[in-house]
Amino acid sequence: SSLIPPPDERTLLFSNAGMNQMKPYFMGLAEAPSRRMTSIQKCFRTSDIEEVGDATHCTFFEMLGNFSVGDYFKAEIIPWAWELLTEPQPKGMGLDKSRIWTTVFLDDDEAYDLWRGVGIPAERIVRFDESENYWFMIKGGAGPCGPNTEIYYDFGADQGCGDPGCSPPTHDCGRFVELWNLVFMTLYQDEDGSRRPLPMRNVDTGGGLERWTSAHLWQEGIDWQGKKTTWAQPPTIYDGDLFRPILAQIEWISDLKYDAHQPAEHTITRASIDMRDKAMRILAEHTRAATLLIADGVMPGNDGRGSVLRRLIRRAMYFGSGVTTDLGLIAEAVIERMAPVIPEVKERSDLVIQVLRDEERRFNETMQRGMVELNAELSHVLSEGGATLQGDRAFYFEATLGFPIELTREIATDRGILVDDAGYERAMERHRAVSSSAQRFDADSERLQTYAELGLHATEFVGYETTRAFGQVAAILLDGTTIVRELTPQLAASHHVEVVVTQTPFYAEGGGQVGDRGEIVWPGGRFVVEDTQHVGDGGVVAHIGRLESGTLSAGDPIEGRVDESLRGDTMRNHTATHILHAALRNLLGTHVRQAGSLVTPDRLRFDFTHLEAMTPEQIREVEALANRVVRDNLTVHIEHKSYEEALADGALAFFGDKYADVVRVVGVCDLELHDCFSHELCGGTHVHASGEVGAIIITGETSIGAGMRRIEAVTGRAAAERLRADEDTIGRLSTTLMAPPAEIEAKVAALREENARLHRQLQTLERRAAREASQTIAATQIGETSVVVERVEAATADALREVGDGLKATHKSAIILLGAVIDDKPAFVAMSTPDVAKRCPAGEVVRAAAQAAGGNGGGRPESAQGGGTDPSKLDAALAAARKLIEEKLTA
Ligand code: SER
Repeated sequence: SSLIPPPDERTLLFSNAGMNQMKPYFMGLAEAPSRRMTSIQKCFRTSDIEEVGDATHCTFFEMLGNFSVGDYFKAEIIPWAWELLTEPQPKGMGLDKSRIWTTVFLDDDEAYDLWRGVGIPAERIVRFDESENYWFMIKGGAGPCGPNTEIYYDFGADQGCGDPGCSPPTHDCGRFVELWNLVFMTLYQDEDGSRRPLPMRNVDTGGGLERWTSAHLWQEGIDWQGKKTTWAQPPTIYDGDLFRPILAQIEWISDLKYDAHQPAEHTITRASIDMRDKAMRILAEHTRAATLLIADGVMPGNDGRGSVLRRLIRRAMYFGSGVTTDLGLIAEAVIERMAPVIPEVKERSDLVIQVLRDEERRFNETMQRGMVELNAELSHVLSEGGATLQGDRAFYFEATLGFPIELTREIATDRGILVDDAGYERAMERHRAVSSSAQRFDADSERLQTYAELGLHATEFVGYETTRAFGQVAAILLDGTTIVRELTPQLAASHHVEVVVTQTPFYAEGGGQVGDRGEIVWPGGRFVVEDTQHVGDGGVVAHIGRLESGTLSAGDPIEGRVDESLRGDTMRNHTATHILHAALRNLLGTHVRQAGSLVTPDRLRFDFTHLEAMTPEQIREVEALANRVVRDNLTVHIEHKSYEEALADGALAFFGDKYADVVRVVGVCDLELHDCFSHELCGGTHVHASGEVGAIIITGETSIGAGMRRIEAVTGRAAAERLRADEDTIGRLSTTLMAPPAEIEAKVAALREENARLHRQLQTLERRAAREASQTIAATQIGETSVVVERVEAATADALREVGDGLKATHKSAIILLGAVIDDKPAFVAMSTPDVAKRCPAGEVVRAAAQAAGGNGGGRPESAQGGGTDPSKLDAALAAARKLIEEKLTA
């Protein structure tokens, strides 16, 4: 499974265990493909993020698991686990039996006896309560759960704390590592904490590949390259070949040596090695996790998964700041190491590296600004004698400056300051409460509750075959909260109305395709359907709209009529979306993956992963290929088959269809040649043959974030309308420009050139006129100096300066102030010849004038300009400035 859970899994942000995909089987909601399964599953957990860098914790890890869906149970799995761990290689791992400890749930005597039975002495079996020996898919939340038994490996009494009473699970001194968790998954916990039995007794086990590796190295006395080694301390998860090549890359980039277990006589102090090595481990772990997340389609962002990825990258950069922050280069080693087993990291390597680099650049900018502010704030706290950073301030740094809370915490702790976590939580809550999405969620849950009370059957959808169908009114809802038996015009006028019927041809919004519109009719009445939506995930469909005439009662027979013209447009756009998707993969590469889509009657929008902007040629090529497929009039072929079969046939799939026994595959195919241009798992409505699409015109290609592009297009009717409108525009242009369409471009270019030439000419003339005007302006004399203070006519500031320059050229010693009304505002320029500039600086003169006219100005002593706000004050302003000049020159 992807690290991104399927869309119908609403309780999880990331795949956090191998059992996630077993949930529907354990709950009896779907038939398992087999009752015994094993897997190696990519997992991501942030619960231990602050432990990362120690010997045993990861955010991303590979979980080894086996599962029984109502098949084997305790009596089988316990001896099997023992066998796998302790039997000599190659049958088992060959771990030393005397090093295995286990823990069991308080009263689980059966598990206890079974462990005794395989030969573990009583003193190495520890009983523990729910805090340690119970596993929940979501701690404190809804999901499958059950008591467990955990298997630990003992590195030896001389390791770790040395306390003779040391034992798992609570001692994490380094002596023990938990290898494997066997969960007896027998219960389901509800939101409210109550538990009920699952339909079957299941087993879910999870072992960490990274930890198994460290036990193996120790047991065998070998290093990651298989060479004999005497370990002075137990190997960490970083000492195996899962991490060493990544650390080697970090060593190479940073020119620093990683060696967590340097001999003590090494010149660098133990503490500094530990810190630096820890930083290197965090870099390796976080970059590995970020790489895997991006490869599965997570993009850095400000909420949800994106914010977790962002936090991970930012932590890596923060810790790596003394080592290296070139996460892109580190990711290359991750990709090389992982590609043989997780090929998607290789397929999306460019994307991964680009996203890391972009995010790095962005964070560097954020860091610079944020660090200055945060340090100033911390200094302020210290100078006031405080030791706590207020929670709302910490939240400000996160929300406004993008500083993850743990960075703020770490930076603050470094300076001896604690963050007020409770206050931070409160600030966060307040923020959530005001955001409208939170309110929407509440309204939505109330609506779902109301529907749940109605206990409706799933609506029968017949819209693939027909656009008209009879049915019966099953329920009428007002404002999502009130159930009514009869919908009268009075009620309908003042409320938001939803109608549920037993059978409908209306497609409910889903898979990017908008809900159908149309009407529901009955003798004497009509309800206009403006939108069609699913209610929750039980298959109930709500028709949302307004009552136009008559009254409608629960139980009434009705006929649903979808607006065929709109539906036809939507189908064209949906089929075109599939064709474009395939054309993009065909021409740009198979790294192109759908990231979202919107299919409406008017247009389609398709978001996909791709690094660069498409060139105009590429856009044209994709469009041309898509239109060729349209003209080839391929059959749109709908098939129902098993998910596995669909995948094996190469259908493009997205998680979520996965749990259905049978999936719907939409192919655009040449049936005679058995060749499909496109096939995708899809529940949408489509045309019967590609020719019905008519034409596809790509109307836009834009960026919607790092490594994500968006294509917009129109088809059929909208394409024809667009062509017509463009033709009409061209026709009008042709008439206006008096040029045939083919010559319009040349004509416009010639006009632009002509315009530029005229503009230049006009400027020359204006300048000449200004100079001439300046000749007629008289000066008064103060001693040797000519004083000119004058209101003139000028169209632009340039022209005004031009007049000033002309005047300056005609006087040997002068101070000049000119004012004009330009664009309804007073404007001034002042100029002084060098001999006057000291005594009477132009800057001061212009400022005096401009301020008197309600504005401001300034500049060099020899030349300055300014502007005011009130044109009626122009003359007074000039007079005031003249007074200033006279004072200065006569002083
Ligand atoms: N679900 C359990 C765990 O994650 C065992 O697989 O630890």
